[in-house]
Amino acid sequence: STTRYYNFDIRRQNVTRLCHTRSIPTVNGQFPGPKIVVREGDRVIVKVTNNILNNVTLHWHGVRQLQSGWSDGPAYVTQCPIQTGQSYAYNFTIVGQRGTLFWHAHISWMRYSLYGPIIILPKIGLPYPFPKPYKEVPIIFGEWFNVDPEAVIAQALRTGGSPNVSDAYIINGLPGPLYNCSSNDTFKLKVKPGKTYLLRMINAALNDELFFSIANHTLTIVDVDGVYVKPFNSNVILITPGQTTNVLLRTKPTAPNAFFLMAARPYATGLGTFDNTTTSAILEYRPKPSKYYNITFPLFKPTLPVLNDTVFAANFSSNLRSLANRQYPANVPQNVDKRFFFTVGLGTSPCPHNRTCQGPNGTKFAATVNNISWALPDTAILQAHFYGRSNGIYATDFPVQPPFPFNYTGTPPNNTLVSNGTKVVVVPFNTSVELVMQDTSVLGAESHPLHLHGFNFFVVGQGFGNYDTVNDPARFNLVDPVERNTVGVPDGGWVAIRFFADNPGVWLMHCHLDVHTSWGLRMAWVVNDGPLPNQKLPPPPSDLPEC
Ligand code: C2O
Repeated sequence: STTRYYNFDIRRQNVTRLCHTRSIPTVNGQFPGPKIVVREGDRVIVKVTNNILNNVTLHWHGVRQLQSGWSDGPAYVTQCPIQTGQSYAYNFTIVGQRGTLFWHAHISWMRYSLYGPIIILPKIGLPYPFPKPYKEVPIIFGEWFNVDPEAVIAQALRTGGSPNVSDAYIINGLPGPLYNCSSNDTFKLKVKPGKTYLLRMINAALNDELFFSIANHTLTIVDVDGVYVKPFNSNVILITPGQTTNVLLRTKPTAPNAFFLMAARPYATGLGTFDNTTTSAILEYRPKPSKYYNITFPLFKPTLPVLNDTVFAANFSSNLRSLANRQYPANVPQNVDKRFFFTVGLGTSPCPHNRTCQGPNGTKFAATVNNISWALPDTAILQAHFYGRSNGIYATDFPVQPPFPFNYTGTPPNNTLVSNGTKVVVVPFNTSVELVMQDTSVLGAESHPLHLHGFNFFVVGQGFGNYDTVNDPARFNLVDPVERNTVGVPDGGWVAIRFFADNPGVWLMHCHLDVHTSWGLRMAWVVNDGPLPNQKLPPPPSDLPEC
């Protein structure tokens, strides 16, 4: 293994999409940002220098950060932001992970332009557990706003309403030919016949889970969130913000005289407005078809599920299984030390005096875990934890409750008000944790992609309706459940995960739809040090930013 060094210079760059030119934060002037390519076992040092006026932090989404919690990145959780003119070197080692992850800004909505792939190749000499691809191509989904997204969310938080939706979804930074003023901004995947391609797909979009499909081609899913899975075929992929999915694309034996569209659009279950437009890119065979591509040329278009196809979503997720073999065992906790039950969902906050709010019945929108809407502290929790100074920064009384008799998915209650706080759950080192997350219908049921920092977890069960403490655990899969870092809590349902809390530090958990994060759908776990030297959080690096 070796050390890979990167210099990330955060600077503004003019970028034009949909005939709108905007100056957006970029890394080294690139949009989407540069890719990080490493091998399992490598150390990665990324020196980030902030040359814009906004504060910034970067997060290495899905990287375990074993004993390197200072490099995780969420603002005011593991670090204070990097201020204008400052630098910070993120320093971590990739342990036991291979596949695709991604990096992104982790402050406010700056992920809209600051994101890029993390490609983790297997150790030298170790083959993939599937046919060796001829080529590997990142496919990264995002969203383009014609206006400043930071202003969009600031305005929504001020007025209490829903933020405006983006103007386009993008594939590798490009909206594609189905949008106005965009046909030149189309990603083309150029392929040869009779080959196998590995598409490394990443959903970096702010606010939408996406269905993706390529016309007349089948995809074989082989890896999610940096963990191999039992290969299975599907014409459509569901990928939530925060998830990554590697698929094999086997091209046709001879080059057809046609173009094929690949397309993505939302899986949308919630209330309110969302953008139901479709982003697309072109699969182009070599030798090239006899006519130039234009939208009227015989072009095969994929069929995507309807926008709220929860049945497809549930089936797709239950098809994902760990390899669970001798070489890639699934270390699923068989016994549980601590059981937790968290509700996730939306609610309301009172409208401040002398304001008019645009949320439900004149209130402000809020979102919660166990009815607590997360309040961001103004200094980093990890530092406070390390120095034993939690006072005034966070409280350890996060309400952990067993499921109580309440119809989470039935008629909404009259009182939709939430509480606010910066509350964490503290667990001893190596606790075997089971967590059931239940979607609530307080303001309408909705699918929430929940992401846990610092861990992979096993998805041992999922279902619709209310979690049943007696019958549901009996059906848990403790043999080959999928292992990942982001899971969709089903619309009007629940999901059960298990993990070993073997990583000392402070670990954020939140809905990866940024609008819900902004409304407070986040909380944090504190994992205490273990007794051995290699079970302790080391002291902070000397260049850790101060608030
Ligand atoms: Cu990808 Cu806390 O985020």
